[in-house]
Amino acid sequence: MKKLIDLLSEDVKKAFVFKGYDEKYGIVTLSNRPDLCQYQCNGALAAAKEYRKAPIIIAQEIAEVLRGSGKIKDVAAFNPGFININISDKFLAEYINDMRKAEDFGCEKEPAPKKIIIDYGGPNIAKPLHVGHMRSAIIGESLKRIFKFMGNEAIGDVHLGDWGTPMGLVIAELKRRKPDLVYFDESYTGEYPEEAPFTISELEEIYPAASAYSKENPEFLEEAKRITYLMQNGHRGYMALWKHMQDVSVTDLKKIYDSMNVSFELWKKESDAQPYVNDMVDYLKKNGYAHISDGALIVDVKEETDTKEIPPFMVLKSDGATLYSTTDLATIVERMKLFNPDRILYITDKRQELHFELLFRCARKAKIVNENTELQFIGFGTMNGKDGKPFKTREGGVMRLEYLIKMVTDEVYRKIMENRDMDENEARDIAAKVGLAALKYGDLSNQASKDYIFDLERFTSFEGNTGPYILYTIVRIKSILEKFKETGKSINPGADILPPCTPLERDLMLQITRFSDMMHLAYEEMAPHRICQYIYDLADKFSSFYHETKIISDENSEERQSSLISMISLIQELLKTCINLLGFEAPERM
Ligand code: ARG
Repeated sequence: MKKLIDLLSEDVKKAFVFKGYDEKYGIVTLSNRPDLCQYQCNGALAAAKEYRKAPIIIAQEIAEVLRGSGKIKDVAAFNPGFININISDKFLAEYINDMRKAEDFGCEKEPAPKKIIIDYGGPNIAKPLHVGHMRSAIIGESLKRIFKFMGNEAIGDVHLGDWGTPMGLVIAELKRRKPDLVYFDESYTGEYPEEAPFTISELEEIYPAASAYSKENPEFLEEAKRITYLMQNGHRGYMALWKHMQDVSVTDLKKIYDSMNVSFELWKKESDAQPYVNDMVDYLKKNGYAHISDGALIVDVKEETDTKEIPPFMVLKSDGATLYSTTDLATIVERMKLFNPDRILYITDKRQELHFELLFRCARKAKIVNENTELQFIGFGTMNGKDGKPFKTREGGVMRLEYLIKMVTDEVYRKIMENRDMDENEARDIAAKVGLAALKYGDLSNQASKDYIFDLERFTSFEGNTGPYILYTIVRIKSILEKFKETGKSINPGADILPPCTPLERDLMLQITRFSDMMHLAYEEMAPHRICQYIYDLADKFSSFYHETKIISDENSEERQSSLISMISLIQELLKTCINLLGFEAPERM
């Protein structure tokens, strides 16, 4: 279905052509003075230069022609040459009725659907999840849903960090604590136990302890590195422990992601790219892309046009060890081989921007990707505390994701229970949904690249531009619909929506029509905040309308009553679709 603004542009273009001007001047935009009109066309100003005429004369000519259009209620030329347009209420209602009947509210999909791999989440085995991982998961999940909605094949890959020194540190620490474990017995040749010798909480405690200990004790760090090396080269006992770490971590991660409404099509790990490393290195060397510098294997990725210092991309360290960059390049090799995607999108903290810049340049230069494979990076900003500094625990440590989620849901729970009796289980269930909405909306309503302030009070508020407010609107519509059912009045469920009766109703209906425009922007700009803005405006306009209109009333004619029910049902559907794209859902009641 065409966007309303494009339908209008068609008429305005025709008017320009009819008057002997080029059709390119007939583009209509949303009015930047909503107090004056709904839409505007500034084409007369530009046309004036080409046709050497006063812009106001052209604007008047066009306005005159447009007065005959059934889509337009009134149109006027304003100095110096603006054309201000208000659409007819009948056209507005018809458009909305078409939206209701069309699939996905008539939003036109990607004409050339793509296969897109989204690399997000990026947790590390044995290390607790922190706020950065949360942002990646929240933004990535939403983008994936947007891509799919627009008709693409989107494949989410969690890309677990499982290959670096942290593994060696955990094993070294385990060896220090429990040297008698069979995994450390070099002469042991039997099967290793199926059960891991640690729980997730132990595992998460071991890593920070080991990391701290290694800073004081260089020999311990050396030992950890040696263990990492042996593990990566197939040491049986260390491999078995590493496997345990993976299993224990993944079980726990799946639980957390599940509670966050985040899911991945692929649970690939950094180590999955290892089998590709040797061939990749040979290829890079043989084709002259890589060379040795100070013992390390590097690819020069500087370009003449660079205005900043661009270091080379490092493929192997001087001791032959692989790095984060090695794995990422080999992962591209793997992804091209297994999926041949049109696009690979990475979502991490923006501090990793340079890494990805070098990686992309290297992959392109060495022709590891096809010429038209798009490589993209979205770097997000920091979530700060109210003091403007990166969000920390009260003790000043890194905030673990589970604590953060718990903090938010507890606050919502407290609010729900205020002055009210509710079954404990139900309240907890609602709090989980509303808390997640608070957290995700608080994050996604900002442009991803910007830092934002985590404000528990504001995020969990049931009023204002927040997730809970959106959910509240959905629940409220639901209860109006239920109340209507209780009146026993019959309505025609497919009844048409009638033209608006009041300015607030018109405003609300105009907002409804903007769904496709908004979706296209959100998709093209990879910007979930566009969705947040749209639903906030929609919820807000609904609320104003609701205050002045009796939605269920004997005074309403049957036709009007059915129309109102159709309209609020549509608003509810739109809101639900949008929050689904943001990655959260509404409870039955609040
Ligand atoms: N594990 C990494 C981290 O915690 C993020 C991984 C992002 N993805 C990638 N392909 N490098 O910072």
